[in-house]
Amino acid sequence: MAKLVSVNTGHIVDVPDNSSIKGVCEDEFGVEFGCENGVCATCRITVSQGNENLNPKNEKEEEVFPEEPETRLACQCQIKEGVVMIDTSED
Ligand code: FES
Repeated sequence: MAKLVSVNTGHIVDVPDNSSIKGVCEDEFGVEFGCENGVCATCRITVSQGNENLNPKNEKEEEVFPEEPETRLACQCQIKEGVVMIDTSED
């Protein structure tokens, strides 16, 4: 079982290994989603720790934020295992 942590609220949610983070981000962390297809960047998050525990950035994410490895699109992320800390603030 993996864990997603909101650095904004301290909320910790257990999620199955190798699962999408979209549901938790939307339902528990208040992340808004739009296209859900890696295009609109509405679901932008910052991974403050544990980025290595997510799938590598895909082509869509690289296209939107090529120079920011810690900036991810939640609709494109799966957690492999371990702990991932997510900052959902806009700054
Ligand atoms: S919801 Fe549009 S990029 Fe994720």
